[in-house]
Amino acid sequence: MVTLDKFECLFLVHLTSLAITSLCNTWMFIMKVLLGITGGIAAYKSADLIRLLVRSGHQVRCCLTDAGSRFITPLTLATLSGEPCFGANPEYHEWRPNPRVEHVDLARWADVVAVVPATANIIGKVANGIADDLLSTILLAATCRILWAPAMNRAMWSHPAFTKNLETLSGYGHSIVEPKSGILACGEDGTGKLADIDDIFDGIIATGTERSKIFQGKRVLVTAGPTHEDLDPVRTLTNRSTGHMGIEMAKAFRNVGANVHLVLGGELKSPWGIPTKRVRSAEDMLAACLELWPDMDGICATAAVADQRPEKYSTEKIKKMEEALNLPLLRTPDILSTLHQTKTHQWLLGFAAESENFVENASAKLVAKGLDAILVNDISSGKGFGDSPNTLIPITKCGSGNSIGPDSKELLASKAVNWFANFLDK
Ligand code: CTP
Repeated sequence: MVTLDKFECLFLVHLTSLAITSLCNTWMFIMKVLLGITGGIAAYKSADLIRLLVRSGHQVRCCLTDAGSRFITPLTLATLSGEPCFGANPEYHEWRPNPRVEHVDLARWADVVAVVPATANIIGKVANGIADDLLSTILLAATCRILWAPAMNRAMWSHPAFTKNLETLSGYGHSIVEPKSGILACGEDGTGKLADIDDIFDGIIATGTERSKIFQGKRVLVTAGPTHEDLDPVRTLTNRSTGHMGIEMAKAFRNVGANVHLVLGGELKSPWGIPTKRVRSAEDMLAACLELWPDMDGICATAAVADQRPEKYSTEKIKKMEEALNLPLLRTPDILSTLHQTKTHQWLLGFAAESENFVENASAKLVAKGLDAILVNDISSGKGFGDSPNTLIPITKCGSGNSIGPDSKELLASKAVNWFANFLDK
């Protein structure tokens, strides 16, 4: 038997972690995010953003301005990111790689610089080339992608001087995650609230992964979520799909450069930066897809489309009765088959949720719907719904491939898109 001493074990652990990191990098494009936090009440929300980024495997370093430090402490940011917190005040951090060129080192280190929240002041400074503290010098020295998530009073947001500055930054190719409307910290109602943290997270991922564009310039239609086939004003026929997988597929295609259009059923909110058409029934979904189809390069159909709809819709609520209710149902249109009949150059990628005979059933759908590939997942015993981890088996005309996962739907979608890109390449 071979025994390893302590150093050999440590070396093996290091090699394994390097292998895992490089594997993750291949799928997920693990990023170095430099997070700038400026002085606004929304600064406390940056803590949740760091959590999301770190949990997804990204490396985060924070740069806190003096004004920002009045709203959140360097210790909070350092603890959550696991890195020293940088800032104008040297007491914030003990480790400085090279104090003379700290702003350049940090700017070079980052794959993306995100300023969350971004005040009118920092936006005005950078738009006009002013660099008078660590964050503004990093922002001028950075050659990587930059993202801004502004938050401020509504009058400041709509001031022409501020609008001009924001347009200047957009013109430099910077990404903006715009604020939303609501009651602001000052008590006024209007636009200026920091965007939702999950939208800012999506924006950072999309901005930072623009380097790896295997679907650059391709237009991809994604269907997601359940459809609803209404019986009367209060009752509906639907299924247990939530739309999580479809939304992750839409984001994964977007993250590798595709110009994605989402057709979405169900209640989930549409992802940041992806034009979304919300639909209710299978008929609505088909109509939305047919409108977009001629301009698309392909479709990724993750939607769980209801196969049956009530023959008649009752405009009044159906009253309960003693005898059994007889409900005639009609077939809904098959969206993929319809798109296949009108396809020119486009590819079709289907999904199949199966509770038994996965490969046989999915292969039959591949042929019947004229698909290039289909990804099948096991939904026996309620598996695979919502945001729980899942596994996919890819199937093409050549047979089934190695299963992908089990992984979170975010990682699974990223791997599935990579698998499909390789398949199209062959
Ligand atoms: N699909 C579609 N239109 C429908 C039903 C399904 O475009 N009316 C698509 C789905 O989006 C998915 C694929 O077809 O990409 C397979 O869907 P699935 O529900 O697994 O299969 P069905 O064809 O509905 O067959 P069954 O429900 O009998 O398994």
